[in-house]
Amino acid sequence: MPVITEIADLKRIYRRRVPKMFFDYTESGSWTEQTFRENTSDFDQIRLRQRIAVDMAGRTTATQMIGEDVSMPVALAPVGLTGMQNADGEIKAARAAERFGVPFCLSTMSICSIEDVAKHTSKPFWFQVYTLKDDEFMENLFGRARDAGCSALVITVDLQVLGQRHKDLKNGLSAPPKLTAASIANMMTKVPWGLEMLQTKRRFFGNVVGHAKGVTDPSSLSSWTAEAFDPSLDWARIKQLMEMWGGKVVLKGILDVEDARRAADLGADAIIVSNHGGRQLDGALSSIRMLEPIVQAVGDQVEIWFDSGIRSGQDVLKAVAMGAKGTMIGRAWVYGLGAMGEKGVTNALDVIHKELDTSMALCGKRDIEDVDRDILLVPKGFAGVWE
Ligand code: GLV
Repeated sequence: MPVITEIADLKRIYRRRVPKMFFDYTESGSWTEQTFRENTSDFDQIRLRQRIAVDMAGRTTATQMIGEDVSMPVALAPVGLTGMQNADGEIKAARAAERFGVPFCLSTMSICSIEDVAKHTSKPFWFQVYTLKDDEFMENLFGRARDAGCSALVITVDLQVLGQRHKDLKNGLSAPPKLTAASIANMMTKVPWGLEMLQTKRRFFGNVVGHAKGVTDPSSLSSWTAEAFDPSLDWARIKQLMEMWGGKVVLKGILDVEDARRAADLGADAIIVSNHGGRQLDGALSSIRMLEPIVQAVGDQVEIWFDSGIRSGQDVLKAVAMGAKGTMIGRAWVYGLGAMGEKGVTNALDVIHKELDTSMALCGKRDIEDVDRDILLVPKGFAGVWE
């Protein structure tokens, strides 16, 4: 058994185990990938302040996100196609999250359906939706999420149109994979992955296939987004969707102070400062650069979370110190899932928790809720002066 000490270990195993098209789906940003790269490299610019001779006994990383108890301020972000990374992937990830005491957010573009995940877990999970044109489909989806006991709805507000990822087009990404000479040749080198996949029936977009009308190819993310997503989305429509759901709502994908103000005014329970992992607008600022300006603008009005770029517990600590009440990890848990299923997701959470806990202690803090900006050393003008 390999010794897992960091997220990069899981990524290495994942890359070997899973077909290229699914690895590439995870590990891509849009176009030149500038924003994708800067999401992580900008984290590296922020330093932590080492403190000594502080009592570090009895530490805790436990806190709350939208009123729900969490063992650390980290939730599993909604990621599409995860049941293709590892058979029944969403069920495995949800179970790992549940055992760890962190929230799991199921993507609309999951392979396992909402009902499937609910059947195999015992705590409520969150459900993510895109803003689609088809009201009947949305009502139906909301009803299914309600029946499954989902405790919050996460509305993705930064994907009316899909940012282009070159590799997905070149690989012909789909679920299940289309059988071309290249995909067959590659899958033949991924035997353990394939054998597990053959044993499950869950190989299609479980929330979409059989539920969405007028979609020519429901196996393709790009054709579904082009046909079903609502390019005319505006704040009134977001409000309407929030009302349609009626429960707790988190708005995901806010990267601008003005947008954050609008979102806070709508009464969202939380907003997520995010650039969709660098997968939408290439050339946008990294998410971590935008966190503080948004916290300063609306932090007293709405709970602020952060995603895009977190690969370690130190990153979580930095985001929390800048004012995020919670964070989401995406790639970090998918690497774990692809590498070794449920155990790999637990490994990823373990790695991040240990890094967070120890780094917090070395910064002289015992309680995650006491972590503040004081523990950071941030280069002058980090948020930038942009015109
Ligand atoms: C969809 O939300 C994606 O990022 O692929």
